[in-house]
Amino acid sequence: MSEHNQTLALEAKGLAKTFPYGEEILEILLDVDLSVVAGKSVSIRGESGCGKTTLLNLLARLDVADVGELYWNGEAHDPKLPPGSRDSARRAFLVGVVYQAYYLIPEMNVLENVLLAARLAGSIGKDAKHRARELLDRVGVSNRERQLPQKLSGGERQRVAIARALLNRPKVILADEPTGNLDERSAGDVMELLLEACREEDAGLVLVTHNPSFAKATDEALKLVKGELSPA
Ligand SMILES: Nc1ncnc2c1ncn2[C@@H]1O[C@H](COP(=O)(O)OP(=O)(O)O)[C@@H](O)[C@H]1O
Ligand SMILES: [Mg+2]
Repeated sequence: MSEHNQTLALEAKGLAKTFPYGEEILEILLDVDLSVVAGKSVSIRGESGCGKTTLLNLLARLDVADVGELYWNGEAHDPKLPPGSRDSARRAFLVGVVYQAYYLIPEMNVLENVLLAARLAGSIGKDAKHRARELLDRVGVSNRERQLPQKLSGGERQRVAIARALLNRPKVILADEPTGNLDERSAGDVMELLLEACREEDAGLVLVTHNPSFAKATDEALKLVKGELSPA
């Protein structure tokens, strides 16, 4: 843990990842170290194809690393192994993910989409429903809870996805270009909401973005170049 005795929401050490490409091997991530303090935010910028999504996938254990160490809220998880069912349940509790394309289930209404997170973590109780409604209110779409996602604007859909990511009170939020599909105004609103919500909920945020002013708004701005992170 760090010398300031702050809880690290997320810590990665020496993560590396290659992909086979025909006869060749693509070295995408070489040696990635990353620490995110609870309630703080880190942005990552980098050219298209440099490995940002690959990195977030390793941090969420949605893909396996070649080497490296990974800690969620101080809890060691082996990023070289595919997650077992216990790991997946821990992920549902400790890590929330927000994607550019929202990934809401079209057949489910807004409230049901948010409650999906509770289902992944175990079961949907009264508390989860209460929390979901509170979050929908918090992100400004409480009057839409019975609606299907297709009736919502992009900005509203992303707000619902953020509520879903926060439902289980995760320690870590991973956001992969969350404003990539939004117009400038809703992008700004969504970004403000995400930064504020992570601070209030004491979750560490890793934000992948192409937007330089959003990157600057985080507590620490990093860039991914040639498979390594460095200050932007
Ligand atoms: N499953 C995979 N198999 C082979 N190559 C992949 C795979 N996933 C990603 N890549 C390659 O790894 C590189 C990094 O991809 P990605 O992490 O999506 O970049 P970014 O998110 O920074 O745009 C790209 O060259 C991509 O084609
Ligand atoms: Mg990407």
